Amino acid sequence: MKAIAYQKFGNTEVLQTVEETKPSIQSNQVLIKVKAVSINPMDWKIRKGEMKLMSGSKFPKHTGVDFSGIIEDPGTSHFKKGDAVFGVVKNNMKEGALAEYVAVSSSLVWKKPVQLSFSEASSIPIVGIAAVTALQKMGEINPQTKILVNGATGGFGMFLLQLLKQQAANVTAVTSTKGLEYAQKWGASRVIDYTKVNVLTQATIYDIIIDLSGKMGYANAKRIMKPKSLFLNPVPQPIDIPVSLIKNLFRGKKHVVVLSSPSSKIMDVLLSAIENGLQIEVNKVFPFEQTVEAYQYAEKGGFVGKLAIEIS
Ligand SMILES: NC(=O)c1ccc[n+]([C@@H]2O[C@H](COP(=O)([O-])OP(=O)(O)OC[C@H]3O[C@@H](n4cnc5c(N)ncnc54)[C@H](OP(=O)(O)O)[C@@H]3O)[C@@H](O)[C@H]2O)c1
Repeated sequence: MKAIAYQKFGNTEVLQTVEETKPSIQSNQVLIKVKAVSINPMDWKIRKGEMKLMSGSKFPKHTGVDFSGIIEDPGTSHFKKGDAVFGVVKNNMKEGALAEYVAVSSSLVWKKPVQLSFSEASSIPIVGIAAVTALQKMGEINPQTKILVNGATGGFGMFLLQLLKQQAANVTAVTSTKGLEYAQKWGASRVIDYTKVNVLTQATIYDIIIDLSGKMGYANAKRIMKPKSLFLNPVPQPIDIPVSLIKNLFRGKKHVVVLSSPSSKIMDVLLSAIENGLQIEVNKVFPFEQTVEAYQYAEKGGFVGKLAIEIS
């Protein structure tokens, strides 16, 4: 089968199409014929060697963690051959779904909602699960809670804004000009174009700030946080994890790291939100043969929603 692999850390030029043996399944796994894989920033952070501590430096490495496809071999699971599904690979630091077939644990695979295309379904797991986790970290929110979502119209923000909308939250979304309309459509009460206005110099202060751009940082965010408030950080440095825990004991403006992992409970929340109208915007779909171009486009940024690669 065809797969995408790389033999050293680097930019998109290290990505190669290789011929590999079709995987065989272990006891709790299913074999899936992959139809689509969505792109996440994590894919290129790993490929560039920015996450070596967790990914290790053993090659070849594969890429793409979110996928959708058709069950080829259900093993001992409750799935049937031919079921349309979506899911996520187990060890996203070491495995990759960008291949014609993938073998994964049946606990990380869910039936594809019929109304979604394969590209849309492949866009759900990583950012959807992270958005539900972030929402849970926010705790009790009501229409008076002032929430700022910085970097609001990428994949993560697309899910988070719509989940917050379903809770009637008071959200200010920071995005580039292209994203303003989407942020409003997805439920933001107020939008700020970061190419024109610096949110840090505005008078409004917030109860909760979540920085999805990775560019604001707690030290800056503090300037626009209420005395008792939360800064949620889904893009932490390893050192932030222990340091924020200790420092939070002595301060009102908390720095809380968001790390997510898949579970059926979280997926139930997402599937029900999708059932209730949550929309998935796939900005562009690339064919498998244009994987390098797809990652070049993704790494440049400046688009709304998700990108997907389809395998025919
Ligand atoms: N901790 C976890 O469990 C977890 C899970 C999933 C993702 N993540 C991380 O969360 C982050 C967001 O994920 P994503 O998939 O949504 O990424 P994404 O699609 O790249 O979205 C990032 C957004 O930030 C915006 N942005 C860029 N510069 C900005 C600035 N100066 N001010 C405000 N916004 C700015 C971008 O808008 P433009 O492109 O228009 O500039 C883009 O819409 C990534 O770093 C990802 O790795 C963490």
